Amino acid sequence: MGIKFGRIALCGLFLSGCVGQAPGGIGGGPGSGADAAPAVPQVILYGELKDVMTNAPVLGAAVSAGATATATMTGARYEVTVDQQTLLEMKASMTGYADTYSAELLTEAADNQLTTMFIVSDAVKQNLYPAGTTDDPTLGTVHIDLQSVNGLATLDGLPLANVSLLQNGAPVGTVYFINNQGLADPNQTTAIQYGQKTRAVVINVPPGPFEVNVLEQGVPTPQSAKGNAFANAVTLIESANAAGELPLTYDAQIGAILTGQDCGGCHSGNGTFRLTYSELTTRNLLTPADSNAPLLQSGLGIGHPPTNWTATTPDYLKVLEWVEAGAPEN
Ligand code: HEC
Repeated sequence: MGIKFGRIALCGLFLSGCVGQAPGGIGGGPGSGADAAPAVPQVILYGELKDVMTNAPVLGAAVSAGATATATMTGARYEVTVDQQTLLEMKASMTGYADTYSAELLTEAADNQLTTMFIVSDAVKQNLYPAGTTDDPTLGTVHIDLQSVNGLATLDGLPLANVSLLQNGAPVGTVYFINNQGLADPNQTTAIQYGQKTRAVVINVPPGPFEVNVLEQGVPTPQSAKGNAFANAVTLIESANAAGELPLTYDAQIGAILTGQDCGGCHSGNGTFRLTYSELTTRNLLTPADSNAPLLQSGLGIGHPPTNWTATTPDYLKVLEWVEAGAPEN
């Protein structure tokens, strides 16, 4: 309980990137074996709905999870039952407030996930549009809580050029920092706190999937958090992806797993090859981009010396997610 709680507390803020594993990766997915598919277990998400700027509880809103599930509300508290291991978006709506989406959340294996949701009032949404700009109802707004990669610090002092929002790899929208009065400010070229958070806003974002790229000072690889923009609505997201985890690249995470105890004990160059990125690619060990990749087959001990990995080992799941994502080096 302690660990689960700590993790949820860290990632609860905007429900963003709370997990490390890809949906439906391993076993048990549609078409993977047994005819009688077992019923999908369900989990409960619950928590409080708060105003994004004041942190005050907001009563009387409607909250939904994904396309179908509607939460029951008691005061500002909601409770909703959803399929386990589902990627979903939470939405809060209410008169006097903008429709507010939380970044995608993969519901975890654990039941009873505590998640705080936030909603943006119409007045606050106006403040996200500097004088001279227009809130186009066909476009979306993205509000970013700027945090360090480990999620432990706000990114005060970050230059504006280090924040961008990409769709299909190209920057979209206009990025502003929120100044110390809670207003999007074109003159605020370094990040500053408001309401104990360091915030940026991106206005005029075409509806659709986006990636937030934040280059934290002193950190070589940009953070990239993913979400969806919706017309005439605000999407809330934290800059640090997966609750403050490093980007899912060989350099940031995977290299350490493959040269660590489970594999690196043998694959250190004596007798076997080293599990470096160039070895993995020249030996074609990363394709196909799924659990059939030789790297993952070997890790599971199929025709391979025994290791500690099974299909549910967290490190295995992380490497699988990385391979499925195209195995980026950095
Ligand atoms: C007990 C020692 C040992 C451990 C532990 C070990 N390996 Fe290996 N591995 C070998 C040997 C020996 C070979 C075959 C020699 C070679 O190809 O260099 C090999 C080969 C491989 C190959 C090449 C397979 C192919 O199709 O060419 C991959 C991929 C691999 N290991 C991945 C891993 C991963 C991932 C881990 C950790 C989960 C791991 N190994 C742990 C000893 C080990």
